[in-house]
Amino acid sequence: MDKEKVIELLNKDLQDEHGAIIQYLTHAYGMGEGEMACEIEAMARDEMRHLDWLAETIVELGGIPSLERGTMKMGGASVHDWMVNNVSLEQGAIAQYEEQIHAIDDPKIKRLLRRILSDELAHRDDFEHFAQKSHRETMEDVRGTKSDDMIRTLNWGIEHEYTVILQYLLQRYLTPNEEAAEELEDQAINEMQHLGWLAEKVVDMGGTPVIEHAEVDRSTSTADMLSADIKIEREVADAYDKASTKADDLKLKKLLLRLRDNEIYHAEVFGDLLEEEKSG
Ligand SMILES: [Fe+2]
Ligand SMILES: [Fe+2]
Ligand SMILES: [Fe+2]
Repeated sequence: MDKEKVIELLNKDLQDEHGAIIQYLTHAYGMGEGEMACEIEAMARDEMRHLDWLAETIVELGGIPSLERGTMKMGGASVHDWMVNNVSLEQGAIAQYEEQIHAIDDPKIKRLLRRILSDELAHRDDFEHFAQKSHRETMEDVRGTKSDDMIRTLNWGIEHEYTVILQYLLQRYLTPNEEAAEELEDQAINEMQHLGWLAEKVVDMGGTPVIEHAEVDRSTSTADMLSADIKIEREVADAYDKASTKADDLKLKKLLLRLRDNEIYHAEVFGDLLEEEKSG
């Protein structure tokens, strides 16, 4: 199989991993705190690792990782329905990986896909178990329909966080600057935490987290990437700062200030990297 075809197949996997991450996070936030939600979040983190390995392999092959979001099976009124959807999503992934392991010749890529497949098989079994458990315990969607200025602001924050997660991951794969790549990955992981904090807060406040992203910066030089990152970090630090002045509850205020301070830190780290990039 030629390289272009392999890149195309791996990008399809990457897109589907991306879809699975968002599907599972949506479920974890939508079922309220508990052991099952934690385990599902851990599975979303497995999918993030898969996404990372696939993206690295695509870059090694000379391709560009896709940022499109692939297949999702959302919908369903109860946690039981969601878990049944997740079993079916995993089954689709299992079939796709099995087919590719068969079709691709490169032993390194075959080995990687087998490694991912072993996780998907475990996930399918876990979701089957969760489907039974959520049925027995009649677990419901805990998200509410409330929407006010603060919930809208937090959802704007979620959109921002999701956007920069994708942006920093993509940049991390594309920049030849190793120090920048390491920082970008670190900050992307921090932005994933931010997304989780915001989503949980929205649910706490009786709303529904909206996990959609905005336009991702597509700069090709490291200096342009970092400039775009500094700009967006400054904007969001300001927005969280403003929102914190409108927060009437202390926990929410503290959350927004913590987010603000993290973003200020990101802007400064990226600022140093930009200076070095320009001088080096
Ligand atoms: Fe996966
Ligand atoms: Fe953030
Ligand atoms: Fe940030």
